[in-house]
Amino acid sequence: MKFDINNYSDETVEKDGIKLSIRAYRNVVFVEKPIGDKFHRMNIYAPLPYFNGRSVNGYTIKTAPVFMPNAVGGYRPGEIKEPDDKTIFYALNRGYVVVSPAIRGRTLKDGNGKNYGVAPACIVDYKAAARFLHYFAAEIPGNADKIITNGTSAGGALSSLMGATGNHPDYRKYLKDIGAADSDDSVFACSCYCPITNLDNADMAYEWQFDGVYDYHKRKKQTDENGNVYFTPVSGVMDSVRIGISRDECKMFPAYLNSLNLKNGNGELTLDENGEGSFKEYLKGVILASAQGALDGGGDLSGKTWLKIIDGKAVEMDFKGYAEDITRQKTAPAFDDITMDSAENNLFGNAGEDFAHFTEYSIAHSQTGGNMADLSIVKMLNPTYYINDEKTKKAKFFRIRHGEKDRDTSLAISAILTLMLQEAGCEVDYFSPWDTPHSGDYDLNELFDWIDGIVK
Ligand code: DHB
Repeated sequence: MKFDINNYSDETVEKDGIKLSIRAYRNVVFVEKPIGDKFHRMNIYAPLPYFNGRSVNGYTIKTAPVFMPNAVGGYRPGEIKEPDDKTIFYALNRGYVVVSPAIRGRTLKDGNGKNYGVAPACIVDYKAAARFLHYFAAEIPGNADKIITNGTSAGGALSSLMGATGNHPDYRKYLKDIGAADSDDSVFACSCYCPITNLDNADMAYEWQFDGVYDYHKRKKQTDENGNVYFTPVSGVMDSVRIGISRDECKMFPAYLNSLNLKNGNGELTLDENGEGSFKEYLKGVILASAQGALDGGGDLSGKTWLKIIDGKAVEMDFKGYAEDITRQKTAPAFDDITMDSAENNLFGNAGEDFAHFTEYSIAHSQTGGNMADLSIVKMLNPTYYINDEKTKKAKFFRIRHGEKDRDTSLAISAILTLMLQEAGCEVDYFSPWDTPHSGDYDLNELFDWIDGIVK
């Protein structure tokens, strides 16, 4: 394994009328045993002034943070991005060194039809990239002690895993298999947009949030004759089997939630057997803060009948009214589907099987009769199992954003992640931006202000 410091090209990139001079190191192989010619490679970009001894935004070639966004969505493969990518461009404009790694995803098949991108490949590859940066810290521009990951949805989940599982031995065997550098895979901070995570508990959280809301509104991905992707709405009402599952999963959530012993400044956060209690009040507080942000920005929220506003203050809300307003996207169970054909069922497949179940409930109610995933791998995709494990070197800082209108997973999932990290001593900047759907990188200025704030 090597990093060839002389193999670069100096370039000018232009966007929105801004011109940036950068140095680009492309297709840097970051493991000893790369798979194919597309994966286990990264591009590294750095502002050119650093190589002439100059500084950018107060950083030098030695002190600049290393921003490492992943391009994973839907747990599919994430490709290397070029510097004209908006997030990368504006990170470079702030003086960050930017690393864009290719990451394997669930849909990859080799010539023999074997899956080679199912879990835990995605997190193993991201970790291998971080190890490479630490291993060649003296040569690669930027400060490898200030690596900041970023991602959206499945990519947000991976970003949170990077921060929650640093150096944990569970991943070692897999890292060894691809010949990852024998070094540190921990990171300094993580930016996580709408993380689709805690997958083996997310079905319960979803049904608790959408309790009694049985009509669903999905978007079906389609491709026209020119290969352009477009979406068509698909709506319906869950059948009696799925409504029964919704009721079961909803009832199971309080026991899970209470097992976490969550706390915040005001004491314990729990739920009673009806799903009511201080955790629900905490979550309402997150949504009220979101509404307040919109009100303070001059927004007109008078159409939100589930929200009580007095003198410009969002003071109370009706949780069911909120769920009805944002609408249910997924049918029950939302992730470990009884027909075993969700993205997550595919994620937890193995070399020879495309899909697997990953919860006791769904395998017991399966309509297709699939196998159970390897639970040690399901664990490796769930940051909550590592946050209180002393064998991890956790990131100190997390920034978690989960839009108020996001229905891809329950808001409870990002709240649980936040509360567990805070309790474990991490600093978490958590907010639910108003009227924001499942998406990321929509507030780059604020994201980069946060990074400057924690690095400087
Ligand atoms: C993503 C969205 C989902 O609804 C999901 O179940 C998994 C991943 C995504 O956008 O990455």
